[in-house]
Amino acid sequence: MREEIRDNNLMQYPFMNINMNLESRVDDLLGRLTLEEKFSLCSGRQQWYTSPIKRLGVKSFAMFDGPHGVRPGARIEKRVTYFPSAICRASTWNPELSYEFGMAIAQEVREVGGNMLLAPGVNIQRSSMCGRTFEYQTEDPYLNSKLAVSVIRGIQSQRIAACIKHYICNNQETNRKKVNVNVSERALREIYFPVFKAAVEKADVWSIMGSYNKINGIYGCAHKELLNNILMEEWGFKGFVVSDWGATDFIKTTEECVHAGMSLEMPRTVLYKRKKLREAYNQGMITEVELNNIVKRLIRVMFLTGLFDPEDLVPLGSRNTPEHQDITKRIAEEGIVLLKNMKNTLPLDFNKIKSIAVLGPNMNIKPSADPDGTSSSSVYPLYEVTPLEGMINRCKGRIVIENSASNADVTIIFAGLNHKLGMDAEDQDKDSFDLSEEQVKLINQTVEVNENTIVVLINGSPIGMNGWIENIPAVVEAWYSGMEAGNAIADVIFGDINPSGKLPITFPQNLSDSPAHKSRRTFPGNDEVHYEEEIFVGYRYFDKNNINPLFPFGFGLSYTKFEYKNLKINKTKFSRKDILVIELDIMNTGTYAGAEVVQLYVQDIESSIERPPKELKGFKKTFLKPNEASHLKFKLRDIDFAYYDDKSHSWKIEKGYFNLLIGSSSRDIRLEAQVNYNGPTELVN
Ligand code: GLC
Repeated sequence: MREEIRDNNLMQYPFMNINMNLESRVDDLLGRLTLEEKFSLCSGRQQWYTSPIKRLGVKSFAMFDGPHGVRPGARIEKRVTYFPSAICRASTWNPELSYEFGMAIAQEVREVGGNMLLAPGVNIQRSSMCGRTFEYQTEDPYLNSKLAVSVIRGIQSQRIAACIKHYICNNQETNRKKVNVNVSERALREIYFPVFKAAVEKADVWSIMGSYNKINGIYGCAHKELLNNILMEEWGFKGFVVSDWGATDFIKTTEECVHAGMSLEMPRTVLYKRKKLREAYNQGMITEVELNNIVKRLIRVMFLTGLFDPEDLVPLGSRNTPEHQDITKRIAEEGIVLLKNMKNTLPLDFNKIKSIAVLGPNMNIKPSADPDGTSSSSVYPLYEVTPLEGMINRCKGRIVIENSASNADVTIIFAGLNHKLGMDAEDQDKDSFDLSEEQVKLINQTVEVNENTIVVLINGSPIGMNGWIENIPAVVEAWYSGMEAGNAIADVIFGDINPSGKLPITFPQNLSDSPAHKSRRTFPGNDEVHYEEEIFVGYRYFDKNNINPLFPFGFGLSYTKFEYKNLKINKTKFSRKDILVIELDIMNTGTYAGAEVVQLYVQDIESSIERPPKELKGFKKTFLKPNEASHLKFKLRDIDFAYYDDKSHSWKIEKGYFNLLIGSSSRDIRLEAQVNYNGPTELVN
């Protein structure tokens, strides 16, 4: 564990002077480190820590998983708050909630003695079959960026380093440690880079985790172009790159990781053994400048997280607080998506219902996974309210909970997937897109017996629903929504909460409709996987090919209705540097208070190259009482209309007309307007 360093004469060193500015403290410490001490900082020890340097009072720096709750070390001693999965949080389309989540989970990291959280996980959800879809946010780069920036700002507000992961194109689990991803520059720039670029430029993220896989032939942690050239030089990343755990196992040389700019090899020394670094240095394979660069980045983050500051200067930690449990519940409530609600089956009327049958394999599910679960996102929560417990809590003995559908007023079937059964799990992709046959049989047999049958899905990725959804009047997507899941689901079922979740990922009707699933070559490949869909990921593909998804990107029903009106744009012709201001009014015309996520898409009507029929470039979530209206304002600028040109390696915008599409989902456009760009084609990046 971490040795406490107690040596008062350390205070003499300038780097211990809290009144010195950050870079001077960093430079002072760097200048005092011997070569061997620098080597010793570059690789991990005991799975989650860096090595201390007692001579200078450098404590070990602790980093823990994961995206849904802190997991202090492999041996789980401490119970923590289990937050909703990333895909559930993304379904809230609420950046403020993501910020609050970041703050809360960082307070728990601090409380268990950590300095960095290995999160958020932000890989684009290219396939519904990826085992870690639940750990990631969305298929769309714009939504991905907005939410990730908020989480990172929240985490780092507590002087805990966020470590955004996995850079880059780690979009499948099959063969993840060796697969080579073949991807175009345009797809990287328009789809896969944006969230990392925003994390650096808009949230000043303090750490980035290099991915296991290769990208165009080079392993993520040895990729000089992606790390040193683009991440550091082009985007200005000042933090440090840490390898994924074991991501250097198949990389041949120490120097290629140093040249690329990887600072820290986890969990143990392989390429960054002191002996190997020493040899590389003595043979001139790595320079002192390169060594100082990678070491300086790490110690800079050590200073930023307060490793050298007195305790009273570092934000206090807290764990298992009511506030954290409240945030968890609010994310779950806003992340639940109402997918179908025929004849207003939902919400149930608490005063009329006498009995509810609760069935299904997921009624007792606890998705936090067991403490030594295989997945790095597993959590050991203080408690976890199952769907059944949530229903029992809410029914308060007033409504009888049955286990047979035949004589109940309503039946609720909790169906879906389960980490522990190898679905939605790290290190393996799903082997089936649909629910199990048993579940489909249960659903269809139940609705035969009781037409008021509601299906509530507990899962972390899109699933096929053919063969049963047409028979079911109401379907709720509840995801893996944290330790308060059962209570949040019950609140939606009975209308205490009006669902406002919107899908951050397309639900295909059939897996074969999905752009990633054209052949094995495109997913999951063998040693090579080819992103032949290019930029046409998710709804971009479904729109371009006029394929109807089961449920589109941005979709989610409400118990109320919203009217969109009075669209106004400040100018219909615009050029470089112009700001377009798009305004509209939205009104709650129904009988329930509720929230709507108004989405703004851009469509290039005349383009010399293939472009998606629409791309998300803005969204706003607004909460309205019945008959209440609000006035919304969006701002767009030239880069929001641009595409990346592989040939000139630059962003371009072509003269001509663009549609601005405003809607309740990507397939439910309520208002639109045209604007005309008449400026120069080339844009500065
Ligand atoms: C795992 C995961 C990564 C996690 C790390 C530490 O293999 O890919 O997301 O943070 O190792 O557990």
